[in-house]
Amino acid sequence: MAEPIAHATKEGSAQAVQRCLSPACGASFGIRERIYVCPKCGGPLEIECPVPCAADAASLRAGWQARRASFEPRDRSGVWRFRELLPFDERAPIVTLAEGNTPLYDAPRSAEYAGLDGLRLKHQGCNPTGSFKDTGMTAAVTQAALLGARRVACASTGNTAASLAAYAARAGLQCAILVPRGQITSAKLAQSMDYGAAICELDGNFDDCMRLIQELGEDPSIYIANSINPFRIEGQKTVAFELMEQCGWRPPDHVVVPGGNMGNSSAFGKGFGELLRLGLIEQLPRLSIVQAEGAAPLARLFAGLDDAHRAPRSPLPESITPVADPRTLATAIKIGSPVSWEKALRAVLDSRGQIISVSEQEIADAKAIIGRDGIGCEPASATTVAGIKKLVAAGVIRRDESVVGVLTGHVLKDPDYVSHYHRGTLSIASGNAAAAQPIAGKFRNAPERIAATKAAILDYLERKR
Ligand code: F0G
Repeated sequence: MAEPIAHATKEGSAQAVQRCLSPACGASFGIRERIYVCPKCGGPLEIECPVPCAADAASLRAGWQARRASFEPRDRSGVWRFRELLPFDERAPIVTLAEGNTPLYDAPRSAEYAGLDGLRLKHQGCNPTGSFKDTGMTAAVTQAALLGARRVACASTGNTAASLAAYAARAGLQCAILVPRGQITSAKLAQSMDYGAAICELDGNFDDCMRLIQELGEDPSIYIANSINPFRIEGQKTVAFELMEQCGWRPPDHVVVPGGNMGNSSAFGKGFGELLRLGLIEQLPRLSIVQAEGAAPLARLFAGLDDAHRAPRSPLPESITPVADPRTLATAIKIGSPVSWEKALRAVLDSRGQIISVSEQEIADAKAIIGRDGIGCEPASATTVAGIKKLVAAGVIRRDESVVGVLTGHVLKDPDYVSHYHRGTLSIASGNAAAAQPIAGKFRNAPERIAATKAAILDYLERKR
């Protein structure tokens, strides 16, 4: 194990509490109480961890970095090497698959496409189960083990399920996943099958599954691992730490993430906020969220806010109008009623970011461009580059500003989409009409049948140049 960090709180959990974020309530609860929303008012909960004093910031930074050279499992994890800022103590039975420590790539073609001088993409698809969910799941399943839970459960569009299934398998817990039947990719479903989860395919959409999981959570045998669980957010906030470390602790001007159930954006907001309070960064990057047009309840809410309600620390609207029938081929974010919208909106407003939506065509083409950078991602992740292009065109992001887009899932999460795009057969069912609306791939690259001769192959390569 790397050297212990001087002055760091060994017992990170000793003073941590679960705090209700509703301004009228603010009640606090013990860190080992099995709750997901405030038992008093139903408001969202957040873990409040004592942030070590700013004087320790330099030693924290050095210690976190030093752990990268260690072979101890807690140090190998890109989540647990930041454990001074996590609500667990040294004795926690950590369930890890060596998550995190994902690359931050330069993406010159994507930059040019978006109208920027440069663009970096943080690839969370390089996690053990191929999505960013692993950074949260290691914390949630560790908490499940601490609580003595025997059964963990989630509602999912596919990635949360695959991740929970894997971590539950590591911990020897039963895993139940609720997925909307026929609406998650075969690759994601295959992962959950392989990891041994009990897979409940339900008629309905993700929002229906999410409602049911909250009901199931009332049963004492079930521990919920969706991002409504504040321990998920604790794990995921470490991505903000890791990203700033990769940026030399100089925050980029903008960080852009996709938005679905809004756990990821909430976690980035919390992570950046803690770094600012610690004095590890001097200002917040502007955090912006991009949704798919057909599943964009928060972008719609944001568009309706006047300037006074967009100001940092302004009161949030009381409710969000759900999208009853969300539609997008980016199935990961096909969500009409995001559970963590308040935390996410707070993070965006406080950092003066934006929340926008992009079309299916924009997502598809951006995805292909990211592929041309040799990176690749699943459709939901490509909303970032599509959204950045839109924000540059609108003058919100300047060409010379520094921008990081967060890719949330691996390209192999949805190979059918990729293949349809490049073969020119991608389409989305439009409105109530049965007719499918084709999506013309601007950057198509389909395989071609070539005669099995050297000359034919060379000729083909010349034509393709
Ligand atoms: N990108 C990918 C690849 C996702 O799987 C998700 C969410 C998001 C973005 C959106 O993140 O929900 O934190 O705003 N997937 C969830 C799931 C809903 O069940 O796998 P969010």
